[in-house]
Amino acid sequence: MTDIVVLGSTNMDLVAYVEKAPQRGETVTGREFRTIPGGKGANQAIAAAHAGGTVSMIGAVGNDSFGARLRSTLEHSGVNTDHLRTVEFPSGTAHIVVDEEGGNAIVVVPGANGTVDHLAPGDEGLIASADALLLQLEIPLPAVVAGARAARSHGVRTILTPAPAQPLPPELLAATDLLVPNEHEATTLTGRTDPREAAAALLELVPEVVITLGAAGSLHAARGTEPLTVTAPQVAAVDSTGAGDTFVGALAVALGEERPVREALAWAAAAAALSVQRPGASASMPYRSEIEKQYAS
Ligand code: RIB
Ligand code: NA
Repeated sequence: MTDIVVLGSTNMDLVAYVEKAPQRGETVTGREFRTIPGGKGANQAIAAAHAGGTVSMIGAVGNDSFGARLRSTLEHSGVNTDHLRTVEFPSGTAHIVVDEEGGNAIVVVPGANGTVDHLAPGDEGLIASADALLLQLEIPLPAVVAGARAARSHGVRTILTPAPAQPLPPELLAATDLLVPNEHEATTLTGRTDPREAAAALLELVPEVVITLGAAGSLHAARGTEPLTVTAPQVAAVDSTGAGDTFVGALAVALGEERPVREALAWAAAAAALSVQRPGASASMPYRSEIEKQYAS
């Protein structure tokens, strides 16, 4: 089994499903409202656990009902929450509008996630015991850097999702083994719109890159190898929130099992394709048996 630690955010996703997202100054009537546990960190943790990994989460929830539900959702998915702290802040929230095509627009209010700006006692020991550390950018950068450095010093593979998109400090890139941006993030980081060119530019910063291309699949590039594109199953999306996180969680499990890269990418794409066909982030993350079935079809 792949041992995974996630250092990152937990958000309660407050999701309005609409026909078309409102423009500035406009009001539209939504079809439905749901509160669904999310946050890029928690999403990746749940995705990896469902995919068959042994997963622990480092982060923080607020001392409120959202926090209690975020914690219990993680635990219910089999994620160890011993290093998930409860703090005197409101839980992180993500205010999401999902349109008819399954696309979204999101405002994240960090709340409790903003307190995760350092590693707490014991966190480094937990990271040291893992096969991989998953990182994203919804907690303060100093903690992301500290986590990546701790992992690197113990020979633990670091997988960074550079989302939300922002410039990355050199010390974080220096401790990143695998960077997994989407197309938009890859462009933000490199100024290149062509994924192959962006990947080539990113390889000057990190040794291995996977650029996720939505319905078009993903592109893998590593120093000294030929770039590889793997397609994704064509499905009708109802809610793509957390699809990238599903991809990364499943990818980390597959890579930890030492599957060949092409197979790992296809397996992760199968997981993401299942997730976009169901509403919500964490609520839509497929289990290993479902991924296997989709992968085989
Ligand atoms: O990556 C998807 C996640 O981003 C959502 O679950 C939401 O919480 C936002 O943080
Ligand atoms: Na979904």
